[in-house]
Amino acid sequence: MPKAAVLTGIDQPLEIRDDLELESPRAGEIMVRMAASGVCHSDLSVQNGTIPSPTPCVLGHEGAGIVEEVGEGVTHLSPGDHVVVTFVPRCGECYFCQRGQGFLCDKYGAVATGGLIDGTPRFSSGGSPVFQMSMCGLFSDQTVIPAISAVKIDPDVPLKAAALIGCGVLTGVGAALNTADIKPGDTVAVLGCGGVGLNVIQGARIAGASEIIAIDMNPTKLEMTKQFGATQTVNAGEVDAVGKVTELTGGRGADVAFEVIGLGPTIDQTINMTRKGGQAVLVGVPRLDVMINLPAAFAFLYLAKTVKGCWYGSSNVHEDVPKLIDLYQKGELKLDELISREISLDQVNDAFEDMKTGEVARSVIDFGG
Ligand code: APR
Ligand code: ZN
Ligand code: ZN
Repeated sequence: MPKAAVLTGIDQPLEIRDDLELESPRAGEIMVRMAASGVCHSDLSVQNGTIPSPTPCVLGHEGAGIVEEVGEGVTHLSPGDHVVVTFVPRCGECYFCQRGQGFLCDKYGAVATGGLIDGTPRFSSGGSPVFQMSMCGLFSDQTVIPAISAVKIDPDVPLKAAALIGCGVLTGVGAALNTADIKPGDTVAVLGCGGVGLNVIQGARIAGASEIIAIDMNPTKLEMTKQFGATQTVNAGEVDAVGKVTELTGGRGADVAFEVIGLGPTIDQTINMTRKGGQAVLVGVPRLDVMINLPAAFAFLYLAKTVKGCWYGSSNVHEDVPKLIDLYQKGELKLDELISREISLDQVNDAFEDMKTGEVARSVIDFGG
């Protein structure tokens, strides 16, 4: 039986359960023995209700493991394959998939039923369904997911590092490399330097930005940004972030600014610290009722700014995961450095607390496989 961390209701601590049943993979699905899962702010956002989800639910949507069993019709994976698990599978056939925008897949892209592609989860307890966050449910040493959600990787890559690719790296690095159009020599500002924001910073560095201004309220986080490529840091708890970025850019504003928190006021700030004609990229996941409040003429028309929404780093996972692994193997993408803490599944609630206090980039659950 799997051992899993289950959310039973909003604001409840996760329950560690070893009595859940896990069905074998159905057609088009695989069973994965998880090696490692990252604890992301979006897990916390499901716990506190920012991201709606049915309960009980096995959280976790960023991880890597080894394929244990494949369902009928699965031909691209076999038991023993090492995989990164992603959470926005694509059908390959719809309007968006055909145009290279797999992250917007009409068929599978925005499934939030708590189930897999057919809407039902594979976990259950006493005959009642136990849902799976984002078609994943990776806070479990064993899970069943859609086969198209898994991307096979080189078995030489440590699974703990690979685990982070599934959400934080695809989202953050993708925001810089795919969503934004960063030109070599650009000045980039990143508001929010957690697990995802640090990846935006390293993505901006890879894209050739010459100045990268990291903005956060937490000095520990700001210190961490330097090894990922930040050239300047701004403590938003001490100074006005928009004013400081404006000052650091000769009164102009950033060529490209990223919001990686998901709050209304920081979204406004991000748009305001973008130069005229520049791009503001919104990466953080806000509550559903958050509104943007900006002067239409001045923020957009006269200043000709572009605001871009960034869902899953505008990624096509089957192409982007191999690219990211390649960058890691060449030493250009830092993954090991993102791991602040390795924990056991039993410590997952502590990892949520650490995220709230902001002391960690990522805690990674090591399933000890
Ligand atoms: N001003 C500046 N920094 C802030 C502010 C603020 N008002 N509020 C929070 N922060 C900083 C925190 O100090 C922290 O370093 O934002 C960072 C958020 O980091 P994490 O909690 O590690 O979150 P992360 O996993 O990076 O996710 C960020 O992206 O995927 C989404 O749902 C996720 O919306 C979340 C966002
Ligand atoms: Zn599609
Ligand atoms: Zn995430």
